[in-house]
Formats: sequence, structure tokens, C-alpha cells
Amino acid sequence: MIGGGPLGAEALTLGIETSCDDTGVALIRGERTVVAELLSSQIRDHARFGGVVPEFAARKHLENLLPLVDSVLRTANVSGKDLGLIAVTRGPGLMGSLMVGVQAARALSQAWGVPVIGVNHLEGHLFAPMVDADDLRPPFLSLIVSGGHTEIVRVDALGRYALLGETRDDAAGEAYDKAARVMGLPYPGGPEIDRMAREGDPGAFDFPVPLEHTKEIEFSFSGLKTALLWQVKRLNEEGRELPLPDLCASFQRAVTKALIAKVSLAVRKTGIRSVTVSGGVAANSALRTALTHSREARRWRAWLPGFGRCTDNAVMIAAAGRNAWNRGVRSPKDLTPDPSLGIGGTD
Ligand code: KG4
Ligand code: ZN
Repeated sequence: MIGGGPLGAEALTLGIETSCDDTGVALIRGERTVVAELLSSQIRDHARFGGVVPEFAARKHLENLLPLVDSVLRTANVSGKDLGLIAVTRGPGLMGSLMVGVQAARALSQAWGVPVIGVNHLEGHLFAPMVDADDLRPPFLSLIVSGGHTEIVRVDALGRYALLGETRDDAAGEAYDKAARVMGLPYPGGPEIDRMAREGDPGAFDFPVPLEHTKEIEFSFSGLKTALLWQVKRLNEEGRELPLPDLCASFQRAVTKALIAKVSLAVRKTGIRSVTVSGGVAANSALRTALTHSREARRWRAWLPGFGRCTDNAVMIAAAGRNAWNRGVRSPKDLTPDPSLGIGGTD
């Protein structure tokens, strides 16, 4: 185990995030004051392949990570030896990508004599809304909606989490990305559909809202994607030009309704009326509006992270790692990635 006592209010934590296709490095002071932050997105590199290519992502992290660490430290005018902690994502995510972050963190930890802690990427997402909100305290419910995850987590205390329900098949972000491909829109599909939907009529096509009325906290998006695929096929066979804004708005409405229905169910089941959201799909404008202004939203108070904190970033990893460290969580000296790490349980 890597030792050391709790960190004080002035201690610096370096966060490193390389779980998927974004290389993130951030420096925070104390619990969550952002001192410097850099993110190198690979979206353009992967767009030409229509999705993330794992080997390519790992190579890009390898190229980008150390220069980003260097720049962040230089921007903050500190040296590695001034740090109190290095927090690095150890899973879930792509094995090759995680490996680059974890190996770099271990090497820097050795070189600088600074302890390192492995962070669960999903716990990082739980912390994202807390970075900018002073008054958000557990218990709360967290909807994590990204390209790889769609789940509702009950946060009883920091470090004590219960997975209430998750998707049976595709994640919401994955559904957006696949739907975009069906309509011939570029990767990543979420932001593209979001943009197109602004000009469209959400009632134009009556797509099914998956599992809207079941009594379980669960999601499913593969059937919705198929419904869209059939609709597009039909329109193509009729020789009609695709009404993209209407298709996007109708698809987005169905995804949003499915997510809101289960947030609402979770609020009813638990009696917890504080709701947070994070992950890439938390940037979706329809979801943000529904979480704050829909009829259902009268039952809860929603905390939305700023746009930069929705998608993967290193600030949330630094904040989660620093908090875990001060709760007494320690990582083994031979810290290794765990690509299929889940969330739930107590530390
Ligand atoms: O959290 P994230 O950056 O990476 C993962 O951990 O997956 O999320 C990326 C996902 C992609 O599927 C992308 O299409 C989706 O988030 N996304 C959106 C929006 N912005 C990003 N989905 C819907 N609306 C958006 N505005
Ligand atoms: Zn993520």
C-alpha cells in the first residue's frame, strides 16, 4: 500500500484521465479549486473511423500525456515535487488507454516521491457536479449517461454508493452515436443530433419510449435505434429526402423521456429529491431542460455540471481521488488498470 496522511486545504492534487479517447490532466488545490486544466480530445482523429479505435487511442494518449502534465505544472508554476497526490483513472475504460495513464502516474509518483491513488472513472463522474456546486451534499441520486454507461447511482455518502439500475444493452451516448450513423451524420453523434434537433419537431415521428412504464430502474436503447433504422429505410424506399431535424428531435425526445421516467421512478422509490447528472449525454440540451423544467422535475432539485465537466475530464478524477485519499482509501504499490470496474459498495 502507498502510505501518507490526509491532505490539507492547500495541498495540490494532479488528476490524470485516459480511460477512453480524451487525454485529461488537471491540478486542483484542496478539495476542488481548479488551478490548471488541459484536455486533448481525439474526436477528430477517431471521426474518420466512425468511432473510437482502441489501439489508436492508446498511442495518442502516449504522445499527449507527458507534454500535458508538463504544461499544467508550468501553467501553475509548480514542480512535481510540490504535489501532495497523483490521482489517476484505473477503470472502467479501454485497457490500452487506462494502461498509459496508470503507468505514467506510477512512474511520476516514483520520480517525484508523491503518492498515487487509482480512481474509479464512474466515481469521477459522480464528483463532476460537485466541483462547481457548494451546496450539493449526499444523499443524492446520480444519473450517469455517457458513451459507455447509463445508470442511476444512489450516493448515500462519499465513498458509499449503490447501483440502482442500468442499461440492459446500449448506453444512451452509444445510442446517439449509432443513430447518427444511421442518419449519415458524423461521429460523435450526440452533439450533432442535439444541434439538428433544435430546428426539428419532436412530435414528427412517434418513436417508442423504451421501458417507460416498467416498475424497474432500467434502460434499453437498442430497440429505439432499430425503430429509427426502419423509419429511415422506409423514407429512403419512398424516395424522400430525410427530414433530419425532425428525425433527430423525435429520437432525442424518446431518449430523454426514457431517462426522465427512470429518474422520476428512482426519486419515488428512494424518497431522495436531489438529482445530479454527468457523462457526455449530460451536455444534451433536451435532457438538461427536462431535468430542470419538465413536469416531473417539480419533484426534485437538479444539479447540472458545466458543459466541460459533463464529458471526460481530469478535474473530476482529481476531486474524486483527493476525497478518497482523505477518507483513508489507499492504492497498492503495483496499481493496475481494471477495464471492467463497476460502481457500488463502500470503500
Ligand atoms: O462521457 P463521455 O465524454 O465519454 C464516455 O465516457 O463515454 O461521453 C461521450 C458520449 C458520446 O456518445 C457522445 O455522443 C455523447 O456523450 N454526447 C452527447 C452530447 N454531447 C456528447 N449526447 C447527446 N447530446 C449531446 N449534446
Ligand atoms: Zn466517462
